[in-house]
Amino acid sequence: MLSTSDPDAVYFAKADSLLNLLTLEEKAGQMTNIGLTALTQGEFWTQADTLLLDSAKMSNLLITHGVGSVQNKGKYPPSKEEWYRIVKSIQDFTKANSRHQIPVLFGIDGVHGATYTAGSTIFPHQIALAATWNPEFSRITGEVTAYELRASSIPWNYAPVLDVSMQPLWGRIFETFGEDTYINRVMGAAYIEGAQGKSISDSISVAVCLKHFIGYGTPVSGKDRSPALIPEHYLRQYYLEPFRDAIDKGTLTVMLNSGAVNGVPGHIDKYLITDVLKGELGLKGFVITDWGDIARLVENHFVAKDKREATKLAVLAGADMCMVPYDASFAMDVIDLVQSGEIPMSRIDDAVRRILFVKFKLGLFEKSYHHPANFPEFASDSFANLSRMAAVEGITLLKNENNILPLKDNARTKVFVTGPTANSLTSLNGPWSRTFKGDDPTYDDKGKKTFLQAMQAKYGNGNVLYEQGTDFTGDIIDKTSILSKASNSEVVFICLGEQPTTEKFSDIHSLDLPPNQQELVKLLHTTGKPIVLVLLQGRPRVIREIEPLADAILMAYWPGHEGGEALAQLISGEESPSGKLPYTYPRYTNTLHTYQHKGSDKLDDNFGMNGFNPQWQFGYGLSYTSFGYSNFTLSTDTINTNYSIKGEVTVTNTGKYAGKEVVQLYIRDVVASITPDDRKLVGFEKISLNPGQSAKVSFTVSFNDLKFVGLNNKWIAEEGDFELLIGGNPSDMVKKSFYYKTSK
Ligand code: GLC
Repeated sequence: MLSTSDPDAVYFAKADSLLNLLTLEEKAGQMTNIGLTALTQGEFWTQADTLLLDSAKMSNLLITHGVGSVQNKGKYPPSKEEWYRIVKSIQDFTKANSRHQIPVLFGIDGVHGATYTAGSTIFPHQIALAATWNPEFSRITGEVTAYELRASSIPWNYAPVLDVSMQPLWGRIFETFGEDTYINRVMGAAYIEGAQGKSISDSISVAVCLKHFIGYGTPVSGKDRSPALIPEHYLRQYYLEPFRDAIDKGTLTVMLNSGAVNGVPGHIDKYLITDVLKGELGLKGFVITDWGDIARLVENHFVAKDKREATKLAVLAGADMCMVPYDASFAMDVIDLVQSGEIPMSRIDDAVRRILFVKFKLGLFEKSYHHPANFPEFASDSFANLSRMAAVEGITLLKNENNILPLKDNARTKVFVTGPTANSLTSLNGPWSRTFKGDDPTYDDKGKKTFLQAMQAKYGNGNVLYEQGTDFTGDIIDKTSILSKASNSEVVFICLGEQPTTEKFSDIHSLDLPPNQQELVKLLHTTGKPIVLVLLQGRPRVIREIEPLADAILMAYWPGHEGGEALAQLISGEESPSGKLPYTYPRYTNTLHTYQHKGSDKLDDNFGMNGFNPQWQFGYGLSYTSFGYSNFTLSTDTINTNYSIKGEVTVTNTGKYAGKEVVQLYIRDVVASITPDDRKLVGFEKISLNPGQSAKVSFTVSFNDLKFVGLNNKWIAEEGDFELLIGGNPSDMVKKSFYYKTSK
């Protein structure tokens, strides 16, 4: 029971009193989430051109079956005014015709902005926010997304993704904060702080929904929704903590993993859902399945003979709401399962109590839609500027031979721009933008610049020559013109990468960048002109063969629709690059280590220990300036239990440009009872320094930072030697040792 001092007690009390009035049918309806197009004219997937609500469908689903939650959209992104019309109609209809007038909970995928609302601010994807190593941008993204979702009368966001992903083949790694647990914890908590604000009932805040619990991001095969093998002590050490922090930050809803971990589908893992997520982590709100995943338990996971049995397994495991999302079949199965005694009413009451609690806490009973005129900052220049700044700080400079960048003397420089991602807003936005896959330019925002357009604006149309060169996988187009224009330019910009898409549609069989794109680089290298590669992609696609042909390489991820401008500002030197890789960049498609690369992961093909040799390491990124580290001191070289070490280091800008440095702090456990990580990120700080300027960065290493999860699935610290590594790039760290004594 909740103590009366618990601020949530009032909402649970309201939920309890309402719950007591509900019939089983009404309870089952509250546990049901359907897609918006289950309520509109036409078929579910016809991708209607106008979202006209169908009153018969509304009556059947919202009243007869009492469905309590609706989500997402059809094909096109409605304006905020149309969202107001749609949500207001649904809420008013429910209020006017239902027994208890329980407001519908509307959810949506606002994973890098309220992108399913036309004209909204599109931010860099999470992987690019992680690459900023600046949590403020994650907080800002959560905050602005919440504002623009509420402007669309939507109070529940299926974000952030908190899946740690150690599998770069996985097509959704761009939706995550990358391969490291600590970054996921810090960025996730910051996002939630921005999104949920002071109270989720505020008209500029939303309830977040963490996804996808748990272990979804590291499928063995790299294919989306395929099995993961993660021993519990690894699951706890690398994957669980971001969810724990997020729930401590006030998260109330969590979406389940569509895949399976250790052979158990995420949707029926009672231990992880009920014992760990609700019990150990203390989730107060509710758990929702992912899209159609009850059916997938039958069709893909073969753990249930039919949907009725799948429903029983998932609900008994702890699923509270089902994203059906086509009809009321789940509700009808729930009713039948309770009436047959296979699901106790107590489980249903627990699920519905959690759902009603969230609806009360969101303030939906008081206000279930908002007039868009009350959101004057929607799609404002200031929001656009925040998105651009996030893109600037995330874009990662991976190579800069002979300081070819920044491009000198804007006025006279003639450049040639080419490649499949050079002149496309969809290549900046990536998936989950105006459409689900993000590959449809129909809904591109007017006034936002592609990379080409931004370069033309920066250097003058006459100084920027262009040819598409090729598309994502097709042949090279018009070689003669490509070579001629390149030869008449001083610098060649080749924009490469991935066609936006996600989920199963993003599965690939090789991490190599498609050969035609690599051929374009090889062709242009014959001109002898300096080459700058711009990579617009979610995954670190392998470019081993063409890396030597480039003088400079910018990893831009999917930076959002201000990303073209951001790239042009970095190239011209108006901004200075400061991004750092949030995942290891592989050199070979079948050599997929992460930065932890434990023990024998280091073995090379001659039994030496030089086998860890990625193209670029996690945490790597260049600046236009350089930084020196000195005076690295520790308060002690021996610590006992519950003590901590204080340390500091001086960082100096030793170059001639102002720049931002990401000071990274790692711990290395020299010997442990199970093979230790090569290093573990335990802290980072981004600082700005002018040329010649120095700053002292101080830090505290706590006893907890020494811990790992042992085979007993408990966090433990073991006596012995440790090392602290600090620096701005993984291969250029300063190191100090210390000893941890368990005895007094
Ligand atoms: C999808 C995704 C999930 C998303 C949900 C609703 O299948 O896995 O991330 O939130 O369905 O669109």
